[in-house]
Amino acid sequence: MLTRRHFCTGAATFAALVSVSTSIAAAPLRPSFDTDARGLAARARDARIRFGAATANYQLKDKAFRAAFLQDAALIVPEYEMKRSAMEKTRGQIDFEPCDDLLAFARANNMAMRGHTLLWHRANPDWLEEAVLTTRDETLITDYVTKVTTHYRGKLTSLDVVNEVIAPPDGRKDGLRNSFWLKAFGPSYIDMAYHAARAAAPDMMLVYNDWGCEQGAPENDRFRAATLNFLEGALARGVPIDAYGMQGHLSAFGTQIDAYKLRKFCDAITAMGLKLIITEHDVDDSGGSSDLDVRDRAVADASARFLDVVLDCKALDTVLTWGLSNKFIDAPGWKARLSGYWPRKLPRDSNMAKTQMWHAMAKTFAHHAAN
Ligand code: XIL
Repeated sequence: MLTRRHFCTGAATFAALVSVSTSIAAAPLRPSFDTDARGLAARARDARIRFGAATANYQLKDKAFRAAFLQDAALIVPEYEMKRSAMEKTRGQIDFEPCDDLLAFARANNMAMRGHTLLWHRANPDWLEEAVLTTRDETLITDYVTKVTTHYRGKLTSLDVVNEVIAPPDGRKDGLRNSFWLKAFGPSYIDMAYHAARAAAPDMMLVYNDWGCEQGAPENDRFRAATLNFLEGALARGVPIDAYGMQGHLSAFGTQIDAYKLRKFCDAITAMGLKLIITEHDVDDSGGSSDLDVRDRAVADASARFLDVVLDCKALDTVLTWGLSNKFIDAPGWKARLSGYWPRKLPRDSNMAKTQMWHAMAKTFAHHAAN
């Protein structure tokens, strides 16, 4: 209960506050985006995009991580749980449980989830490649795509149906990766996967996800040309692709982005009527200085330069980082970690403190905030 004495003390404090605030009235107000409690998702929303990150059930058990994740992310993408290696360990038996757990976490915390990935040449169960190559059975694609897409119909904001099928170094004229999928079925397997996904979930945003188009080297020029060529061809054939997922794995000390080339590429994606999603952003800090501050700054700078370009792109819908904290980078046995070099490539450090990258991202979102 408030006694009179309390009231008087309160009134005195109030009077003191008024006089202080009058005396600093001329000082510029701290802009609202500087309020510490606002996470990256809230700041991204100011720039009219959604922000999220890849995570996994084992990470969310860590209390400090979970708190940071809840503060920064409005969207989850499973790092492992939706890969076929996790979903269909035994042929024909799909285990939705780990992924459903992530979805339940997302829903309980007012977050969205996106899906990653149905068809890839990596992260497959041991039995799959041989079965595909020996039987050439198309239902190994269509049944899986149909079952998973049906299960998650109406529950995901978007879905990476096909992952990383462009590989100009493989030497094919069409730029496609010479994977076991391609060897078994020829290029039509890609179309098949998208048609199966669309039939199972007509409203789902279907994404083609890949890397190779971010940076400025000549090999990236070849990636960009092959990617645009693939997407144009697919759309002309009526393949239901709604968005291009640009992974956004960058390098702090290696090849940098070329803002002009990247802008042109994003414009081409927009012109095709596709959405753009940055699906796996992080900045590899290997190969440079051993000075931690120099590394952290280089990571932050590379991230800001990249986001500054893609945030200008009309088609940009969402940005995700691949993980949120340096604590969990590629769980067991990352090769650099084995040699004592701990990567520092994400917005939160191993103790969940905001890194320079976090601040660079916040600043870039603010810079692109809609007025
Ligand atoms: C990676 C995970 O981070 C690893 O832990 C896993 O062993 C393999 O997959 N491109 C992608 C992601 O599309 O799925 C990859 O994630 C990173 C590269």
